[in-house]
Amino acid sequence: MNDKSELQDKVVMVTGASSGIGRAISLALAKEGTRLAIVARNLDKLVTLKAQIESSGGRAFPLAVDLKDESQILFAFEAIGREWGGVDVLINSAGLGHDAPLSSGSTEHFREMLEVNVLALSVITREAVLNMQANKTAGQIIHISSMSAYRVQTGAGMYAATKHAVRAMTEGLRRELREAGSSIRVTAVSPGDTETEFMERMLGRSEAGKRAPEYRQMDPEDIAQAVLYILKTSPNVEIHDILMRPINQPD
Ligand SMILES: NC(=O)c1ccc[n+]([C@@H]2O[C@H](COP(=O)([O-])OP(=O)(O)OC[C@H]3O[C@@H](n4cnc5c(N)ncnc54)[C@H](OP(=O)(O)O)[C@@H]3O)[C@@H](O)[C@H]2O)c1
Repeated sequence: MNDKSELQDKVVMVTGASSGIGRAISLALAKEGTRLAIVARNLDKLVTLKAQIESSGGRAFPLAVDLKDESQILFAFEAIGREWGGVDVLINSAGLGHDAPLSSGSTEHFREMLEVNVLALSVITREAVLNMQANKTAGQIIHISSMSAYRVQTGAGMYAATKHAVRAMTEGLRRELREAGSSIRVTAVSPGDTETEFMERMLGRSEAGKRAPEYRQMDPEDIAQAVLYILKTSPNVEIHDILMRPINQPD
């Protein structure tokens, strides 16, 4: 019996790999024998993840990138090209929220959410498409979006706007690729509450603790399983979006 994964040796670029969902996706994909380009700002965390991946026989290439800087994104693609030739799969997991109500939030907070969740995701996705097209790769692109692509929670209007944009870009890119006769597939995963550093980064530890939900949140590994499912579907199937929330989450 051949138990080699169909994902073996694929070059997968994961943004937001230093934490939470991106980290869990990286660990799950390492077990499938992929070659992982792990991207985030925190190099120490990426180096620790690389060691963890390599200790179980996997391969990882850490890239310290601030996604707000386009030149750093372009440099990352060049580096991956030199190391492994190109990208087969892009997972856009980097993202953030700020406590920034539309009626009172700071411009800086609005800007950072737009820059990372929308603009950087657009630039990195465009570069991945160009890279896949140049290498004639029938690649896959997965955006880690949010249930906030479908609903707007009070006080989180700008965050929801960024994720509604991700939803629009998923469909926009699907249409462009279809018109071009491309075999590249694009998919969103839209999770609800997942236990990561997300809330702590947004609110600080003590406030995040106070606002913790009563229900059990999803684990980042739950999202990684959805990503694995998407990557293993038939090349003839394009999953558009997976909406997933923890049982008992109200919206
Ligand atoms: N947790 C949830 O409940 C939840 C629910 C729905 C959707 N999501 C989405 O899931 C994705 C992952 O979030 P998470 O929950 O895993 O949060 P997390 O634990 O806070 O991880 C966020 C990741 O984004 C990276 N990042 C942020 N700003 C960056 C920048 N300027 N340049 C490069 N990397 C940057 C961080 O890396 P560095 O700090 O090292 O740069 C980190 O790896 C996000 O898009 C989020 O919107 C989360």
